[in-house]
Amino acid sequence: MLIIANALPPGEVRRVREALAKLPFLDGRSTAGEAARQVKANAQADKADPGVVALGLSVRALLERHELVAAYARPARWSGLLFSRYRPGNAYGPHNDNALIAAEGGGRMRTDLSFTLFLSDPETYDGGALLLDGLDGEREVRPLAGTVAIYATGVLHRVTPVTRGERLACVGWIQSQVRRADQRELLFDLARVQATQRAGEARLLLSKSVGDLLRMWAEP
Ligand code: NI
Repeated sequence: MLIIANALPPGEVRRVREALAKLPFLDGRSTAGEAARQVKANAQADKADPGVVALGLSVRALLERHELVAAYARPARWSGLLFSRYRPGNAYGPHNDNALIAAEGGGRMRTDLSFTLFLSDPETYDGGALLLDGLDGEREVRPLAGTVAIYATGVLHRVTPVTRGERLACVGWIQSQVRRADQRELLFDLARVQATQRAGEARLLLSKSVGDLLRMWAEP
């Protein structure tokens, strides 16, 4: 998982929140798959509304231009973006996201990565944490507004019940140019070597990459 603080600058976060306050919302179950529908209780901005579509495209353009997003995800295709709203009593129980969905601009896409862009300041609501399942338990993500979390779509996840305030988020999916997560990670590590000014960090990342490549290619 990659967590990027300030993926959207504060002014943009405010602009998106203000826009959402004027846009129509529907029951979130309308966009959930069969199994997810049983556990989903939130509201979602109406994807058929031109204002919602335009807002989604503007957020996507900002994410697309972000260097870390590009280096980590290497997007080939993006889904349309969904804006979700959780108010007290709303939650999204454990589920996995669909593997094949409609791509923005037509056709189908494979979902390699999911992202959640947090739009509400964490002190303005209670609950509403994103929990990602792992073999060692759940990892909680409940960051500052403007932060994006990008994670493997295959991971089971949930959003805990909101008990106060309003939690706004933008979620979407990416098909990567690089299908395999281990290969994406190698490329990301090497991109970090290229970007860093610190020799120690570069040596460490190169050493990790050599190890990763040996595990991919070597037979003892
Ligand atoms: Ni989900």
